[in-house]
Amino acid sequence: MIEAFKVKQCKHVAIIMDGNGRWAQSRAHRRVWGHVRGSGIVSDIVESADDMGVDSLTLYAFSTENWSRPAIEVKTLFKLFKKFLIKERPRILKNNIRFRIIGDISKLPQGTQDLVRELERESGLNTGLNLTFAFGYGGRSEITSAVQRLVVNGEEITEENISKNMFAPDIGDVDLLIRTGGDHRISNFLLWQAAYAELFFTDTMWPEFSREEFESILYQVDNRERRFGCVSKTLTLNESQILAQENLLSF
Ligand code: FPP
Repeated sequence: MIEAFKVKQCKHVAIIMDGNGRWAQSRAHRRVWGHVRGSGIVSDIVESADDMGVDSLTLYAFSTENWSRPAIEVKTLFKLFKKFLIKERPRILKNNIRFRIIGDISKLPQGTQDLVRELERESGLNTGLNLTFAFGYGGRSEITSAVQRLVVNGEEITEENISKNMFAPDIGDVDLLIRTGGDHRISNFLLWQAAYAELFFTDTMWPEFSREEFESILYQVDNRERRFGCVSKTLTLNESQILAQENLLSF
């Protein structure tokens, strides 16, 4: 861990854990082997986020588009998720982590759905890290259902009301969105919440992602200046002085 570093800006971190299949294929293994190896990294990153003072960590585990993958791959992802829930439950509860799912898990086996709901209930009052898995999730569908809810309830369609109707409204906007695996896309992940997120793309395939790389990314991005569509505070004065000097403001 980077000595005594705690994040100041990167309070909500979201990760697209990509590259499992290619990592396995490049080693002459079947794609599912990549998911098996990739699932082993998840708990390290959760632990690290907690140590670094991140408030919310949202992980893209299964998108709505992933349904069209071969059945064996979908089944493997389901099994790995179930294994994660069973293995990590004691650690989640001991570390005061609040666990949640966003997305549609109705096609998961009933036993896994029960494990999810049970852990959500057991950890619901925890006050530490918000750990959210996006499973059966799509950003467009989340926005659509928020708007539909407002229409049904006869409420005004405003940005504030849409935000309040996201699947987990309290975790709020994303500060940093990381994607592993070398592609530069958002892939329908947290479209609404990531409007002003800092983006970080790494070529590292997810099974090779590490706590060290994660912490180095947090360290780099936490020191970036985020302007949210405004101009840099450090430049404003100098620029207006120059414009005034050049009489560019007297029109
Ligand atoms: C992308 O790899 C990754 C996913 C579709 C899901 C992420 C899943 C895990 C990290 C393992 C499951 C773990 C838990 C705890 C749910 P890809 O297959 O799209 O990789 P590729 O781009 O190389 O094909």
